[in-house]
Amino acid sequence: MEETFMTITSRKYGALPDGNDVFLFELTNSRGLTIEIINYGGTIVSIIMPDAKDRFEDIVLGCDNLEDYLAQTKYFGATTGRFANRIEGGVFELNDKRYELEMNDGENHLHGGLVGFDKVLWDAEIKTANGQKYLELTYLSKDGEEGYPGNLEVTIKFTLSEENELKIDYKAISDRDTIVNLSNHSYFNLAGYDGGDIGCHQLMINSKQFTAVDEDCLTNGDIVSVEGTPFDFTELTSIGQGMQSKHEQIVNGMGYDHNWILDFSGEGLQKAAELYHPDSGRFVEVFTTKPGLQFYSGNFLDGTDKGKHGIYYKSRTGCCLETQFFPNSMKHTHFPSPILRAGDKYSYVTVYKFSTR
Ligand code: GLA
Repeated sequence: MEETFMTITSRKYGALPDGNDVFLFELTNSRGLTIEIINYGGTIVSIIMPDAKDRFEDIVLGCDNLEDYLAQTKYFGATTGRFANRIEGGVFELNDKRYELEMNDGENHLHGGLVGFDKVLWDAEIKTANGQKYLELTYLSKDGEEGYPGNLEVTIKFTLSEENELKIDYKAISDRDTIVNLSNHSYFNLAGYDGGDIGCHQLMINSKQFTAVDEDCLTNGDIVSVEGTPFDFTELTSIGQGMQSKHEQIVNGMGYDHNWILDFSGEGLQKAAELYHPDSGRFVEVFTTKPGLQFYSGNFLDGTDKGKHGIYYKSRTGCCLETQFFPNSMKHTHFPSPILRAGDKYSYVTVYKFSTR
């Protein structure tokens, strides 16, 4: 069995108002990459990586302490579920039954509702398999939670490799037919968490089509070609110009806040996206087995959420690359189905790989 150098340490991070302790887990490899995760919200608190000249920075937005995480409203680094992104009207039909979910985004349901997976305390355990340590988070979402059917047992494994890959392995199983769409809501700024406007980042998305949204940021069912639009990221392209565009879809999303349909052939883990920051040389690659990627340019950051070292994150100072089923996919039956049948296994993997060029 091959021993790896990855270490995981843990310490108490704080206590929730109900008295339960929250722990922070630090994953480090021998190349010095460090990732911190707390079991409140299954939240990635920091990712500390070098630039091309070996200067280390924390490249994700987040908070300094548990109190600030409890107060913020922007899903910094969190695990989103049971259903990432929006469900129109907070309703869906399954097996001829109508389910009404909690509405927490106007008349719609967003990222799992009032108390989504970003706001629950997960059980956490440091485990080892094949000589490789990983952090396992588990949560039982009870039948009826936020309106969803089925007792849903969720397991998420976070593994850091010597190749600077953070692998997130999502698994879930339910005792009744239900719907599931899990993701991670880390906001990247490759200049550092306090790096300001993300306009100078370059993005590649392995996709030729995206799902259009209406003025409420809800997918309307239309599938649109990226060709000749600010949505064309088939090659590494700066995001700054497109974010300012008057394209109807950019106006509807108030910037980029869209799902790209990944251009995947066959099964397995495939390259979904690359994010590059030319000044620092920092480069993040995203691989996934899911069909969609939400690129969100942090348009709703509004300077009200207290961040690291007293920073208040302003609009477009971080961006998310959320692997997922398509938003609102129970409404549009031509989208891949997010239905999980009783006893079946929901299972998918996303890898974020960190390097410099
Ligand atoms: C997602 C959505 C955005 C916004 C953020 C949270 O990425 O697509 O519209 O709701 O989450 O602030």
